[in-house]
Amino acid sequence: MQVQRATIAKIIAVVFVFNLIVMGGGAWLAYQSAPPIPDEVVGPDGDTIVTGQEIRDGKKAFQKDGLMNHGSILGNGAYYGQDYTADTLDLKVQHMRDYYAQERHDSAYDALESDEQAAVADVVERDLDGEYDGGPIEYSAAEAYAHEQVRQEYVERYHEGDHERGVPVDMIDSEEAARQFADFALWTAWFSHTDRPGGDHSYTNDWPFQPGAGNDATAAAMTWSVIAMVLLVAGAGFGVWLYKSISLPEPSAKGISVPEPGDVKVFPSQRAALRFVPVAAGLFLAQVLLGGLLAHFYIERAGFFGVEEIFGVHILQLLPFAIAKTWHIDLGILWIAATWLGAGLFLPPLLTGHEPDRQSTYVNGLLAAIVVVVVGGLGGIWLGSKGYIDGSLWWILGNEGLEYLEVGKLWQFGILAGFLIWAVLSVRGLKPLLDREPSYGLAHMILYAGGSIALLFTAGFLFTPDTNIAVTEFWRWWVVHMWVEGAFEFFIVAIIGLTLVSMNLLKRRSAEKAVMLQALLVMSTGVIGVSHHYWWIGMPDIWVPIGSVFSTLELIPLVFILYEALGQYRAMTGAGESFPYRLPFMFIIASGVWNFVGAGVLGFFINLPLINYYEHGTYLTVGHAHAAMFGAFGFLALGMVTYMLQIAIEPDRWDGTWLRYAFWCWNVGLALMVFVSVLPVGFLQLETIFTGSYAAGRSLAFYNQPIVQTLFWARLPGDTLMILGTAIYAADIVRKRFVLRKTAADPDIDDVAVAKGVLDDD
Ligand code: HEM
Ligand SMILES: [Fe+2]
Repeated sequence: MQVQRATIAKIIAVVFVFNLIVMGGGAWLAYQSAPPIPDEVVGPDGDTIVTGQEIRDGKKAFQKDGLMNHGSILGNGAYYGQDYTADTLDLKVQHMRDYYAQERHDSAYDALESDEQAAVADVVERDLDGEYDGGPIEYSAAEAYAHEQVRQEYVERYHEGDHERGVPVDMIDSEEAARQFADFALWTAWFSHTDRPGGDHSYTNDWPFQPGAGNDATAAAMTWSVIAMVLLVAGAGFGVWLYKSISLPEPSAKGISVPEPGDVKVFPSQRAALRFVPVAAGLFLAQVLLGGLLAHFYIERAGFFGVEEIFGVHILQLLPFAIAKTWHIDLGILWIAATWLGAGLFLPPLLTGHEPDRQSTYVNGLLAAIVVVVVGGLGGIWLGSKGYIDGSLWWILGNEGLEYLEVGKLWQFGILAGFLIWAVLSVRGLKPLLDREPSYGLAHMILYAGGSIALLFTAGFLFTPDTNIAVTEFWRWWVVHMWVEGAFEFFIVAIIGLTLVSMNLLKRRSAEKAVMLQALLVMSTGVIGVSHHYWWIGMPDIWVPIGSVFSTLELIPLVFILYEALGQYRAMTGAGESFPYRLPFMFIIASGVWNFVGAGVLGFFINLPLINYYEHGTYLTVGHAHAAMFGAFGFLALGMVTYMLQIAIEPDRWDGTWLRYAFWCWNVGLALMVFVSVLPVGFLQLETIFTGSYAAGRSLAFYNQPIVQTLFWARLPGDTLMILGTAIYAADIVRKRFVLRKTAADPDIDDVAVAKGVLDDD
């Protein structure tokens, strides 16, 4: 079957409009059906227990003091501490049981006979399983009692500090704010056990699993898991058919003369784009070192290898888990994005054979601006969490505290501006190609992908600390999910396509077709697939069927990516030892394989609603996130670096040995970390949750069991290899700076020849 590029372009346009309609409707619904923040919560006598303002202020304390990177809310955030929703629900159940046991039997619940316990538990369950019908929330006496107990517990834990849990003193700086944080967490617990008006399950589809509050997986979760599985089988068949029937070109080095690195000249703007590499490598090294620290925090919550204080400063107070974790994930995004931006600016001259005036000055300017934003943003996180940025500036300059989007709004704005400047510079660089090709050409694709990364980022500006948490989460996932499962996937297929064309291994037209087909598949599944993040956070029920279907089908484009990686492998081996770009190819292939394993397989594994209900926010998610994020996008970034360096260094001075060592350290390290330690912990967690309650699987008691501690130690070899790989890489980058070709001597290189594949139409 021959499919025209113009036809695919039309289908993409239709799918785009369809996505816009569904997600626009979803946004409207998000506001309509978000769990209500009541004006007040009243006790049985009508006395006010909590006001709506206290709940709102509690959310601010939660964000400002970084609690989302210590524990999680509604299952989203960090997994070191409790899930505050599940924990407050669990504590509420326990305290209510004690209240009734005391009232009826004058005894603690644990001391009751089992039939008495069952009767008390039953009363509590019925108390909690009610329906909300507007107005103030009305607590029973037992609920009012439990609420106050939880407040006290939270003040002790999060204000006074709890080193056993790894919570620093003054994590929340005032007692009042800690009480309000408890009010906020208890409000999320309230809507997790209270049924929607007219519904038969809670606002969160009865998440978290807590039999004591009547919370159990819904029938819809079961039904749609089964339907999604069936669809996947059908989808796999469809995918194989599609792949076989559309003649997709494979890269081939046979009969084509691949441009040797020595034939290519390096322009000043490329030299400037190369400066992104050492900066990103520094951020990367910082990221993995912090990762090692974070892993160790699970073993020693208040010290570091027995050292608790250095020069009178407590380690936990100086760099608590929450700040280290925030830096860890933000650095991960930043070094990968910085590398991509650099690669996007390095490639154009290879494809157009020239560069615009003063391009290198602008590229240097962009890098400087990025450095300012990174230092400002990450510095603001520390200052903000530590309470040094007061008043209303805390979320502008300091720590906005929402996972992955922590840097203050001003810095976010800086990042957005950076993307836009990058887009302008790319347009300048690609201009000759843009003028020549159709609107669905490869250079256009790179710009669309970059543009959608920027556009999606603006969803992060649609909420403030006053916004309802469910609505906030709705928009936050637009950035996080739609980046990684939409725009980033689009970007990598486009940039790999361009790279293969610049290497003369694919003709432009063939590459365009492959990229467009990928873009179509990613867009048909990944955008609406965002709804797998909407099941348990207070969004309408409709996302369960929609999310199960669309996000399950996300596996199909990843199967294609795996196929392509195999094709690239064949091209590489077929080209023989003399093929100059073996090393970049190894990285690109690794990216494709990990994309399939980490995103596809491990993503699908946690994606059926029935599994996700128990798994949400456990170590199984951690395994998926690492294998997918570093595996797919990290390796691609490193492959681009390898390619850039190889071109920028005279072939007789090129030495890929260190990069090759690093490559294997990373691959083996990542596999060991994920499969030997992280996933086994996740399985134990899943079992604990399935047989007990969600809170049990996230409790300190769970993490401190000897078997789990042993598994945490088992991370050491994998993590060490990852750190070693990164150290070798960073050292190699420094080493290679001294062998880069000189361009300064000839800043006015005339236009150079470009790969034939760019010019030819096959
Ligand atoms: C390379 C692409 C992908 C990357 C980089 C990626 C990364 C991530 C990250 C960072 C998280 C959040 C982890 C956290 O909150 O700590 C996440 C969650 C999740 N991802 Fe992916 N992902 C990718 C593709 C996929 C695909 C294709 C699927 C489905 C087939 C998927 C399913 C999920 C699900 C269900 C969650 C939520 C887990 C939970 O409920 O805790 N992901 N992913
Ligand atoms: Fe997702």
